[in-house]
Amino acid sequence: METLPHISVLPKETMEQLQPRSGGTYCDGTLGAGGHTWQLLAASAPDGRVVCIDRDELAIRTAKERLGDDASRAQFVHGSFEDMDTHLQGLGISQVDGILLDLGVSSMQLDMRERGFSFAKDGPIDMRMDPSGGETALELIERVSEEELARIIWEYGEERLSRRIAKRLKQDAAEDKLTSTLVLADAVSACIPAKLKHKSRIHPATRTFQALRIAVNRELDQLERFLEIFVDLLAPGGRCAIISFHSLEDRMVKRCFRELAKTSSLPPDLARKAGERVHPICVPITRKPIVATEEEIQNNARSRSAKLRACEKVAQ
Ligand SMILES: C[S@@+](CC[C@H](N)C(=O)[O-])C[C@H]1O[C@@H](n2cnc3c(N)ncnc32)[C@H](O)[C@@H]1O
Repeated sequence: METLPHISVLPKETMEQLQPRSGGTYCDGTLGAGGHTWQLLAASAPDGRVVCIDRDELAIRTAKERLGDDASRAQFVHGSFEDMDTHLQGLGISQVDGILLDLGVSSMQLDMRERGFSFAKDGPIDMRMDPSGGETALELIERVSEEELARIIWEYGEERLSRRIAKRLKQDAAEDKLTSTLVLADAVSACIPAKLKHKSRIHPATRTFQALRIAVNRELDQLERFLEIFVDLLAPGGRCAIISFHSLEDRMVKRCFRELAKTSSLPPDLARKAGERVHPICVPITRKPIVATEEEIQNNARSRSAKLRACEKVAQ
């Protein structure tokens, strides 16, 4: 496979956690440009297979093309990883040996102005990972109340000036002034005092754009549903690796893995009688999240905030 338009984060570390082997079946819930899938296919050659899911049809087309002959051992599904159970069932697969999620958007999505993810490129205020349906970011700004918009910007963007920004965006939307992503970025920027802008290393609209994107794509809801279903999809000894870029996502993954590892404090007999768990369902295999090395960050700025956690399903 030639150079990718999206550089996969933590490639070596992710494969070390998933330990793909020949003959294994894997599911990449966030195909993107296919970088991690390609690694899974290579490590599981000659007869391993990978089910690849993405909400973005364009990602699937791009990855298929880039994987070339390797794509013959991959099966592609246009949909969400929150429905991984249904997607696998549809392919006649009940359990897999490894699952990967590499959350967020790809560089391809960010780079395409018409997708509206970027505050640096002019495009429609869209931000849908799946442009075939659902509400755009502009429609969301128009629909929700000022308070709700402020909550979204505060919670998902960790933006301290969320109230001020929400007020401005609702006003501008009411006057039909929000005509493009650059206009939106300027409106957000105008809410941020000059001295804060000078101090910050990031673009003043970064946090608000991130928040809108997370809300438009219901990213936290999707992860929550996935965390409820993934264990049943893993074969005993199978592993799940999740790369997140947001503290809220990392916290959800950490809590879920910890919860699945809990066992009763009672002696086994008493625990069984009390209906409490004697064996863990999964054990975390990363005590702390794995982060990118300085070298990787130099080559791929996106890896700076990546956190990888993995767990293994216990063979009962
Ligand atoms: C960071 S990129 C993945 C990059 C990929 N690992 C690689 O190496 O090229 C994230 C991808 O996941 C997709 N995505 C995000 N949330 C999704 C969801 N709930 N279901 C399916 N795909 C999703 C996005 O459309 C995007 O293409």
